[in-house]
Amino acid sequence: MKGIVLAGGNGTRLHPLTFATSKQLLPIYDKPMIYYPISVLMLAGIRDILLISTPGTIPQLRALLGDGSRLGVSFSYAPQPEPRGIADAFLIGSGHIGGDDCALILGDNLFHGAGFPEILRTAQEELDGCVLFGYPVTDPERYGIAELDEHGHLMSIEEKPLQPRSDNAITGLYFYDSTVVELARGLRPSARGELEITDVNRIYLSQGRARLIELGRGFTWLDAGTHQSLLEASQYVEILEHRQGVRVACLEEIALRMGYISADECYSRGIEMKNSSYGHYVMDIARSMA
Ligand code: G1P
Repeated sequence: MKGIVLAGGNGTRLHPLTFATSKQLLPIYDKPMIYYPISVLMLAGIRDILLISTPGTIPQLRALLGDGSRLGVSFSYAPQPEPRGIADAFLIGSGHIGGDDCALILGDNLFHGAGFPEILRTAQEELDGCVLFGYPVTDPERYGIAELDEHGHLMSIEEKPLQPRSDNAITGLYFYDSTVVELARGLRPSARGELEITDVNRIYLSQGRARLIELGRGFTWLDAGTHQSLLEASQYVEILEHRQGVRVACLEEIALRMGYISADECYSRGIEMKNSSYGHYVMDIARSMA
């Protein structure tokens, strides 16, 4: 399975923070925002990852992440010159996807919860069409919204409904089979001029091939697209890390635990950051698993 992180857009809701840099490079507490979605794909066992961003941001992303070999994965980069919608990722990424299944994650989404790797594995094993992830929110009119029947089957999907039929938001993590590229080629831009991911999901739903996994209580899903949500995400990560002594979305640790790099390689990554507590954490993890 291939992975795509969509880290495009102009981040206008975060101005002036995003005049000179991209939203996905802003910090969420101790690491750049984009570490969080990358960590999800790596936890899903996906090692071939395409990062899509604005032409101006790609050199910065490359400086941060390189070709991925330092984490035992492959990162490639593709520009999205205009914010033409989430589903545009499948047109830009068609060569990368090839004939494979594909996981798409939005560059400002943070997922955290016990048992997440197992949930990701189930999603991949049971993939027949598309798998979406639902999360209850108090402001459903801001999101794609899923309506389920009493058996948990998907009934309808609506984008930012004025009168939401449920509070079940569709998160920015999507698994698709290889037909998604063809399907995206047939899309027409919506009223706001974008290729909507919700239109993709509705086509799968009309084919009876869309499934939703509910991420309920005990799970955390945050997006960091506004000043307030950006701060809240940082506070969430800081509290968790300080209280438990663990790091959320530490890519070096995940690479080590997933067997993508050796303990020696992980230790070297830590040394390179030895002046930061993050670097010390990476060194400690490497030592504990040597
Ligand atoms: C997008 C999708 C929406 C989804 C959300 C998750 O909205 O269009 O369906 O619920 O991401 O973050 P946007 O953030 O582009 O407004």
